[in-house]
Amino acid sequence: MLRVVLSVAHLTVLLNLSLQRTVEAAESITLELYNHETTAGENQTMIGSAAPNGNLTEPQFGMLITMSNILRKGVEADSERIGTQQGFVAVGRDGLDVYMSVVYHLNDASGYNGSTIAVQGNIDARVLGTSHTFAVVGGTGKFLCATGQDYSSGEALVEDGSYSVHLHTLTLWIPDYCASV
Ligand SMILES: *[C@@H]1O[C@H](CO)[C@@H](O)[C@H](O)[C@H]1NC(C)=O
Ligand SMILES: *[C@@H]1O[C@H](CO)[C@@H](O)[C@H](O)[C@H]1NC(C)=O
Ligand SMILES: *[C@@H]1O[C@H](CO)[C@@H](O)[C@H](O)[C@H]1NC(C)=O
Repeated sequence: MLRVVLSVAHLTVLLNLSLQRTVEAAESITLELYNHETTAGENQTMIGSAAPNGNLTEPQFGMLITMSNILRKGVEADSERIGTQQGFVAVGRDGLDVYMSVVYHLNDASGYNGSTIAVQGNIDARVLGTSHTFAVVGGTGKFLCATGQDYSSGEALVEDGSYSVHLHTLTLWIPDYCASV
């Protein structure tokens, strides 16, 4: 019985050591994604899709907003498209604290050929203009098993009527056992 306990303890130590090694060995990847968003007009990329009071343009508790924003290489409206930020926003009880769940889908031009990064978190619009950080909860392709964070300063680099551009800086770690897949 004692032997078994000891060998279980030994295994735990081994597991801890190898996990630690994996974490140390993993290098972080940084991605800068310029998210181009349009809230009205023929090229709209963000739209109210459900609202308890029926008004799809008035922020309110329970409202859902669907996004299919455009990711570009740079801040310019005509810079090369490298993917899509697709997902939804759920508006919280006070109408200002919102939950967000999105996938960054990166195309061939990004160099990550069809890989995706899944992100979720919240934005507290009561402190508009302040930074926010979302959790990277996974990915596919080049980003299989990715974790990390998605940081945005909250300040638009461009703001022109219904059109705006925000920079998202993603810091990702991919464990060795997934990087080799
Ligand atoms: C919508 O996008 C098309 C294609 O990029 C462009 O030609 C057109 O000017 C855009 N419309 C507006 C209102 O920006
Ligand atoms: C919907 O909400 C917007 C913004 O609060 C307001 O300007 C508009 O009049 C509302 N529409 C209706 C039909 O109540
Ligand atoms: C990207 O993936 C597609 C589908 O898997 C493949 O056909 C294409 O050759 C790939 N492109 C590059 C640049 O690797």
